[in-house]
Amino acid sequence: MLMFLFLLGLVPTTLTLDNGLALTPPMGWMTWQRFRRITDCEKYPRDCISEELIKRTADKLVEDGYLEAGYEYLIIDDCWSQKHRSSDGRLMPDRKRFKSGMKALADYIHSKGFKFGMYQNYSNVTCAGYPGIMDYEDIDIASFVEWEIDYLKLDACYIDPLKLDTAYPEFGRKLNASGRPIVFSCSWPAYQESYNIKKPNYTSIAETCNLWRVLGDIEDSWAVLSNVIDWYGHNQDRIAPNAGPGQWNDPDMLVIGNFGLSLDQARIQMAIWAIMAAPLLISVDLDDIRPEFKEVLLNKEVIYVNQDVLGKQGLRVYKNRNSKVEIWSRELADRSYAVAFISKKDYGAPYPEHNFTFTQMKLPEGKYKVRDLYLKENVPSFGPDGTFPVRINPTGVKFFKFIPKETENEVYNK
Ligand code: GLA
Repeated sequence: MLMFLFLLGLVPTTLTLDNGLALTPPMGWMTWQRFRRITDCEKYPRDCISEELIKRTADKLVEDGYLEAGYEYLIIDDCWSQKHRSSDGRLMPDRKRFKSGMKALADYIHSKGFKFGMYQNYSNVTCAGYPGIMDYEDIDIASFVEWEIDYLKLDACYIDPLKLDTAYPEFGRKLNASGRPIVFSCSWPAYQESYNIKKPNYTSIAETCNLWRVLGDIEDSWAVLSNVIDWYGHNQDRIAPNAGPGQWNDPDMLVIGNFGLSLDQARIQMAIWAIMAAPLLISVDLDDIRPEFKEVLLNKEVIYVNQDVLGKQGLRVYKNRNSKVEIWSRELADRSYAVAFISKKDYGAPYPEHNFTFTQMKLPEGKYKVRDLYLKENVPSFGPDGTFPVRINPTGVKFFKFIPKETENEVYNK
């Protein structure tokens, strides 16, 4: 029968990932960036990777409105298991830190309205030295299904990056065959891009993964964030077209609310992640976060840009080497444009006003209603003549939505 359908051309020749998941970039909370490898619960009871941390985070995500804003995946990164598998080869959660076991934790997470994510690594050990998935793929997938996970981040430490071109598709097929819809987050191209080993095969990656890390780890600092933004701008022609519903480039977690970014820099990360259609994965202690950073993470108008259903990744459309001002723009489903003006100059005072033309902003000429997405107010309409004035703080951002006048009623009468 299969052969018959095949001859009729009804069976696709390539098996593509079609799990119907992540139609907009995944949003959630993940342990790694803030909590790393902290496992000593006696010394650091509030910081250690444990069921208490996950439960208190779940509670807080609900209480403070993050879940309602869309942050729905709760993901445990590395360092959750025991250092050895059971005698029958199964992964076991650390018995002190995850006393109730993974299924009970998954039930708690699901009962609060979240989806549950976990981490593994395609090698004998994980990046932090816990048992890896190599040779145990089927057993681990069976555990993941039993624990009812909804998202898997599969890392690729300690494996030849060239092998990833076959390893990930093979694993992806197994994951699909499990029958459980699981968002598949791959680190595949990150290991090929970072060490300049080869240009990743993004066609195959997009056929296998829902999202994929394109770079090494982000760190909680402006220097690293700024490099990530540069890299995206520099490589956008190669990577942006691969993004779309169900398949996203992943520049790594949001570091907002931790130790390294100023408020302006945090606003830059949120705006650029929105333009880049990047997954929004928070990694912060929600009990400690300062209110102004929380407001950045919960800015519904910015989230709306990130989650736009057209799923088109935005681009850097302007870069001035002298002033260090860049313009990033993303076309949205309602025919409006989200446009971020960022200044990468890291000293001095806010710039004198710059006046930008349609050409510099790569905006189709016309008349626009303009909304400031951080001030949450309308600013004077723009066009069809003249220039658009913007004044930016050092390492700061102004983020606007340009709504063409002819769609204004459609948009605002919703
Ligand atoms: C790698 C990944 C990180 C994190 C750690 C865990 O460095 O890139 O995101 O998952 O491993 O050990």
